[in-house]
This record gives sequence, structure tokens and C-alpha cells, in this order.
Amino acid sequence: MNSKRIQVKSSAGNYQILCGANSIQNAAKEIATLGTFSTIHVLSSPNVWRALGNKLTRSLPKNTRSNLHLFNDAEQKKNMRTVETVCRSLTRARADRKSLLIAVGGGVVGDVAGYVAASYLRGVALVHIPTTLVAQVDSAIGGKTGVNLPEGKNLVGAFYPPRLVIIDPQLLRTLPQRQFRSGLAEVIKYGVIADKNLFAYLEKSMPRVLQRDKAALNYLIPRCAQIKATIVSRDERESNLREILNFGHTFGHALESITRYRRYQHGEAVAQGMIAVALLAHELGLSKADNASRIISLVQQIGPLPPWPRVAPEKLIAAMRSDKKAHAGNLRFVLSPRIGHAQSTDAVPMKALKTVLRFLLHSPSHDSAQLSDAAAIGKSHA
Ligand SMILES: NC(=O)c1ccc[n+]([C@@H]2O[C@H](COP(=O)([O-])OP(=O)(O)OC[C@H]3O[C@@H](n4cnc5c(N)ncnc54)[C@H](O)[C@@H]3O)[C@@H](O)[C@H]2O)c1
Ligand SMILES: [Zn+2]
Repeated sequence: MNSKRIQVKSSAGNYQILCGANSIQNAAKEIATLGTFSTIHVLSSPNVWRALGNKLTRSLPKNTRSNLHLFNDAEQKKNMRTVETVCRSLTRARADRKSLLIAVGGGVVGDVAGYVAASYLRGVALVHIPTTLVAQVDSAIGGKTGVNLPEGKNLVGAFYPPRLVIIDPQLLRTLPQRQFRSGLAEVIKYGVIADKNLFAYLEKSMPRVLQRDKAALNYLIPRCAQIKATIVSRDERESNLREILNFGHTFGHALESITRYRRYQHGEAVAQGMIAVALLAHELGLSKADNASRIISLVQQIGPLPPWPRVAPEKLIAAMRSDKKAHAGNLRFVLSPRIGHAQSTDAVPMKALKTVLRFLLHSPSHDSAQLSDAAAIGKSHA
């Protein structure tokens, strides 16, 4: 078997990611190496369990089936009420401090289960088995857990590292294509911020990737997991380096909130956000036209994205200012001066930002010709 082991450092205890095709088959053995647990509980959703329950029941430690806690993993249900429901279900099943929770699902299941694990009896052991592309390359790694409030996304949470993450790309087979394409935005992000070879591979291989070619996924997913693991190991609490993971997210979060989380999948909003920051970096004279057009062309290869909303630039800027990552309303952007590198800044002149937004928000359509033209607009500094 060609599974890879990736180490993640965390102040609350280091952990491993086991990543590779069929790594799920070793789940019971891997979990056994973590120690003995009084009871083992699987936290998942009816949707995920319908798709993968049979396969997982065969691979997980025996006796977990009777301790199955399923909750709705719609984004609107990622809230305190669901946390309470799951905690009460654990109490009824007599989960104690020596119990283990196994989160099986996408980012919503992982974030809820992670927060439950952090707070139930002040903390119980947790294993992540991510089942979406977003969860495999992003949310299951790095220890961020949390839920939404009516006032905003992810406003209540905790840093709570798992004891183990098992990433099996084979589990993505049942994932709807829109979810898969949305996850590819985060994959592109890793190429832009940290790995020009990964980026070049995607430029060359996107059609195969979109068909979920096994060899392609077996290269991409461990590579992205490794990049995320390296970044969060060096900056667990996002004081500095970890910020570059927000490439495309300042615009992306604003797009999601302004459209009330209805128009975009998260990755789709990030994809539009990456187009915007590619243009912004060029507008600022930080990157060459070629850099921007390569990023934009690759993002467009993922497939059609929901368009930008028709709102005034000021409205989107206001949404960016109220994002929890903006410090005292100061806008922060991650910009890529060249592919494979990124830096964050809060020194973006309003004029440049508005120029980019005016173009994106008022374009009647966003076909590739138009955007490539935009990237190549004869900027004097290019
Ligand atoms: N904690 C972090 O660091 C972090 C990072 C990124 C995103 N997130 C969070 O993750 C959430 C988004 O997660 P997501 O993109 O994984 O989507 P998701 O969890 O909403 O799952 C998307 C859909 O796919 C279904 N699904 C999941 N796995 C499947 C499978 N293998 N087969 C068939 N269907 C499957 C789910 O039931 C759901 O309907 C957001 O709430 C976001 O805030 C957290
Ligand atoms: Zn993201």
C-alpha cells in the first residue's frame, strides 16, 4: 500500500495524517495504536453514512456501529443547537473521558464533531476521517473547530487537534461533482501560495483531475495535506504564516456573506476570490500579467462559477471589513507576487481595490476571454 505518513506539530500534542488510496482499510489497526478507549463513537451525517456507511463499518473498529451519532450536516445546522444535540446523544450512549470520537464527513461534520470533542467533558480524543475534498486537503488538518452563530460564520470554536487523521481519496468517489470542483479551488490555492510544481501539474492535468483520476488524486491530496500540515505546524494559531492559507478568502468570505451563503459553495467563492486577488496583485504592480492570467485560467478550468453579485463595490468592501479576520476593520489580503509564493498585507490602496471590484462586479458575464483580457490590460508596470 502506498499510504504516506505526514506529521503535524501542535502545542496540545503532535499527530499523524495517514494519507493514500485504501488507507481506510487500516483504520482499525491505526486507531488501536492510539491506546485503549472505553467506548468508540462515530459522528457523521445521514447523507455521508448513506454513501459510505457500509464501506466504513467494515473498516472501523468493531463495536462502533451501536455508537453511531448522525446529525444533519447542512451548513445552517452547523450551530450550537446541533452541538448540544450531539453531546446529549453522547451522554445517553455513556461516552466518558476515555471515549474516542471518530468524525466521518465533510467540513461541517468535522467542525461540529471537533468542537464537540473539544468541549464534551472538557475534551475527549478525536480522529478525523474526512470525506470531501475540502475536508481532506483543508478542514481536517490544523485543529480549527467551531460552529456558526446567527450573527456570523465560525464565531464560536476552539483549537482542538485530533489524535489522527485518515485521508483516503477513494472515499471521494460518491461526492457530488459540484462539491468536488469546489474543493479543487483550495487545491489550486496550495499551488499558488506554496508549490509552483503543483500549480504546473494542475495546468497540465486538470481534465484528468476533474475525472477524479486515481493517480492524479493520489498525488494531489497528500501533497496539499503536506503543505497544510507544514504551515499549521509552524504557526498553529495563525499569528503570521498561517494567514497565507487565506489566499482568495478575503473576497471569498465577503461573497459568501453578501449572498447569504446561498449562491456559492465555499470553494466557488474562494475561486472568484482568487481571480480577484490575482487581478489586485497585478493592479498593484506586485505581479506580472502572466502570473495573473495563469491563475485566472487555471481557476476557470475548474468549470463555471456562480457569477459576481450586482452590488456596489462599497457594499462588498463593507462585507470584507466585517469579516472576523479583518483587524479593527483593516482589510487584509494575501497576494501572490509569483506562483508558489504568497504574502499578506493590509496596505492595499482603496483605489486599486475599487478598480478591481468595479471590473468584476459590473462585468455582464465572466467568460475566459474577458477575464484574460482583464489580466492582460496593458498595465504600465507589467
Ligand atoms: N476547520 C477548518 O479549518 C475549515 C477549513 C475549511 C472549511 N471549513 C468548514 O467546512 C465546511 C464546508 O465543508 P465541505 O466543503 O467539506 O462541505 P460539507 O461538509 O458541507 O459537505 C458537502 C456535502 O457533501 C456531502 N458529503 C460529504 N462527503 C460525501 C461523500 N464522500 N459522498 C457523498 N456525499 C458526501 C455532505 O453530506 C454535504 O451534503 C464549512 O462549514 C467551512 O466553514 C473548516
Ligand atoms: Zn477555504
